[in-house]
Amino acid sequence: MNATTVPDYLGLTTQIHLVTTRNDIFSNGPISTLVLLLLRIRLSLIVLGVGALFTLYSTQKTNTLHFRHFDGRKLQLLEKDTRYLRFSHGRELSKEGEERCGDDPYLVKNGSKLELVLFNPTQVRDFFDKDARDHRKKPDANMGQYFLRSLGQCVGVQNGERWHKTRRHLEAHFSAPECASMILDFQSALDDWAEKLPADFAANSTTSDGFFVDSVEACRQLPFRMIALSLYGDMLTEEIYERLWDLNKIHEKVTEHTFFGTWENMPFYRYLPTAANRALKDYQHGWKEFNLHVITEARKTGRQCRAESMFGTVESGELTMDMFLQSLDEALFTNIDVTSAQFAYSLINIGRDPTTQERLLAEVRSLYEEDISVANFVRREDTFFHKTYLEILRNNPPVWFSLPETTAVEKRIDGFLIPAGTTVIIDTQRLNKTSPIWGENGHEFCPRRWYHITKQQARYSFLEYGMGPRKCLGKNVANVIIKLFLVTVIREFEIAAGNEITRIKRDRFTCIPEQVVMFKKRR
Ligand code: HEM
Repeated sequence: MNATTVPDYLGLTTQIHLVTTRNDIFSNGPISTLVLLLLRIRLSLIVLGVGALFTLYSTQKTNTLHFRHFDGRKLQLLEKDTRYLRFSHGRELSKEGEERCGDDPYLVKNGSKLELVLFNPTQVRDFFDKDARDHRKKPDANMGQYFLRSLGQCVGVQNGERWHKTRRHLEAHFSAPECASMILDFQSALDDWAEKLPADFAANSTTSDGFFVDSVEACRQLPFRMIALSLYGDMLTEEIYERLWDLNKIHEKVTEHTFFGTWENMPFYRYLPTAANRALKDYQHGWKEFNLHVITEARKTGRQCRAESMFGTVESGELTMDMFLQSLDEALFTNIDVTSAQFAYSLINIGRDPTTQERLLAEVRSLYEEDISVANFVRREDTFFHKTYLEILRNNPPVWFSLPETTAVEKRIDGFLIPAGTTVIIDTQRLNKTSPIWGENGHEFCPRRWYHITKQQARYSFLEYGMGPRKCLGKNVANVIIKLFLVTVIREFEIAAGNEITRIKRDRFTCIPEQVVMFKKRR
């Protein structure tokens, strides 16, 4: 046998060895050859057998240690499937985890997969310690095929070098200075909203005190318009905006199928003539056409448009069309409920706290009296205003359980040995409200607490824009638009909200509140 005929995947040494061995066998008589062959086969079988036994032993040994504490106790498993419950019944699931498993982390089922739930700062620190850079996101976020088809290429689920590359290209457009340059456009959208709001909702239920509006309805389109402005800039005419809003209506159906669909997630489903498939196809077609149209027009007219600059990376072959379109989708459509929820909770939180409102009003007034630029004001972190903003984020995380992320190495989390590749989700509400640093009143809205807590102290107790290297791409945009929203609301209106527990909508993947608030125009 010639060494060159041995396939490439064998190493050079093995090739030489093989050649020599074969030559030896064939140089002897047939009997000795047979004996030698039998000996070799027996030897190989013994080696294989010992290897298999060793592997079996070592796996069993590690398996029995995995998910066990130093003291031998095992992690508990909540038996029910949480694939949908985590979105529709986050509060109940969190409570059950707490009642059944106490202070220990615990496992939940997500379809056929197991996920580890963490909720206190020690656990979260252990999870991110040392291997955070190598954590991985699941391409289907453990949600199945429909997610993979609609968002499987977006920046939020990419990993490794691919993620670094996409992130680098997009990030430049959402830096803090870029966002500061958007402030005038944002403010004009807000002024327009504040002016029209009374007329838009006055017919609903107006009393001598003011008018009553559902907190989400009051600003339903506002964050959408502001994020669209950050992407399309001067190209966002009313006509273009209307086309985007129409696409958003189709996208809402896609989101519903993505997060709550059942059959949709089966591998064969894509070939069926169903409403969910039609919605995805219509949306994907419309979204691509829309972006190509806007980009072409921006180039013809020379108008400023960030999506147009981002598209350069598709033309240079650095991002694929799907990566580009799905990342823009993630920023605009998929994230819209997240940002809307923060707007609505801002109204609810300050509506329940007249003292905070008074203090905010004094700061906002001084801003205008002392002629401080709004850009400077929203950048400052030493104001009561900033503490209120942090408290709104702490008090109202956008999703009850974070999206799955896997460990890269075997590690101890809160004393339990967790194997590499374990999928982890964080109970964000429990972390943000019950971590010891929040004290007895962790469930209350209390901006003052931020005078005594440093960023370093809050590091593993406060999940707002994500932890570890996978932080929110839009955090600078969100920071600016939420703060500008607060400035405008405080300047223009007095807000009141009842003290009953706010219900959360069950048909969304985000924590969307159901709560009416009262607006009264300031004189
Ligand atoms: C208050 C509003 C927002 C909050 C609380 C928020 C929160 C988050 C969180 C927690 C993550 C990490 C998710 C994970 O671990 O998988 C994330 C990722 C992301 N967010 Fe936001 N977000 C907000 C607004 C926005 C906005 C306005 C945009 C777009 C302009 C945006 C774009 C993104 C993108 C693209 C990612 C994926 C980043 C990556 O993996 O590289 N977000 N966001």
